Amino acid sequence: MSFFLRTRPSSSLLTNALRPLRTLPPPRSSRTIHTPPNFSGLNCVITGASRGIGHAIASHLASLRASCFLVGRDEATLSSAAANLTASLARPECTPDISYIVIDDVASTKSWEEIAKACPRPHIVVNAAGVSQNQVFLRTGAEEWDKVLNTNLTGTMLGCRYAARQMLRMKSGGCIVNISSLLAIRGGKGAVAYAASKAGVLGLTRALAEELGPKGIRVNAIVPGYIETDMTAAMNPAVVKSVRDRIPLQRFGTVDEVAEAAVFLATNKYANNCVITLDGGMSAAVSTSLNANAKMICFDSDAFQLSDPPKGGSSQVVDPH
Ligand SMILES: NC(=O)c1ccc[n+]([C@@H]2O[C@H](COP(=O)([O-])OP(=O)(O)OC[C@H]3O[C@@H](n4cnc5c(N)ncnc54)[C@H](OP(=O)(O)O)[C@@H]3O)[C@@H](O)[C@H]2O)c1
Repeated sequence: MSFFLRTRPSSSLLTNALRPLRTLPPPRSSRTIHTPPNFSGLNCVITGASRGIGHAIASHLASLRASCFLVGRDEATLSSAAANLTASLARPECTPDISYIVIDDVASTKSWEEIAKACPRPHIVVNAAGVSQNQVFLRTGAEEWDKVLNTNLTGTMLGCRYAARQMLRMKSGGCIVNISSLLAIRGGKGAVAYAASKAGVLGLTRALAEELGPKGIRVNAIVPGYIETDMTAAMNPAVVKSVRDRIPLQRFGTVDEVAEAAVFLATNKYANNCVITLDGGMSAAVSTSLNANAKMICFDSDAFQLSDPPKGGSSQVVDPH
């Protein structure tokens, strides 16, 4: 286990975005609406930043001049992610400040001690590391349950604890953004451990928002629906079509759309226990199983295979995520 850290510029500059809530001025007119936020002087720690949603959030924060620490498990992937971000965001007037921290596992306390050593003064912490699941409940063993719960829920809890401890020492407030999932708030097959872990993330967010809010630490969450990443790339094409048909906007979301929500949560001074659902309207839709014309997909719980329904047999729409 090792971590790499580039020397960082020291700055105590804090923007309004992260001052304690009670010291903030009352809302004014549309002064800030069209002004991009400036995160210069703010340190952001982003887990799951080697790819997908975490990587896109790091990219957006770095483009707004934050100093970003990408957290992941694989040095080669992380170093190339950091180098690519630095190259793509470099401007004559400003070089992005992007470092990376290699850890064993977000669910390990030792990993968070290393993160605290590398970044003792975080202003924004994004808990995006996560693993998916594709197994029916009765075949979900204790090992798989532990892996999903540890990564998604314990990892997020440890990230929040690191953020809270450091931000309280700094006495400057801060913002935590947790990535939950649509499965935290609605049903779906083959992902009981995942759903439980992501519902836990929302409970954690809500409780911490109340506990830490008075200290100026805002705790928020994003509830993505189906987003184009490696996590969804492995889905069966028939399932992709079935899911897409149930999304009112008729497409999966992009990582940049999720990253924009993270920037909003980091910027908006009144966002605390703010939960942004980004699912193209899927959570509002009536299940396509009510639509007699929809192509049905059969769920064979013995083989856990997706197939067309047998003639005359009952059929269900599968939610694989
Ligand atoms: N994509 C979606 O449709 C969707 C929908 C709802 C919620 N989400 C949530 O959004 C978050 C990001 O998902 P994604 O789609 O971007 O996933 P992804 O492309 O599969 O990336 C997952 C990231 O998590 C990291 N990670 C996994 N297990 C880890 C562990 N034990 N310790 C440290 N890092 C670990 C991976 O790092 P390595 O490179 O080291 O593997 C990777 O950077 C997850 O929490 C996911 O549950 C995604």
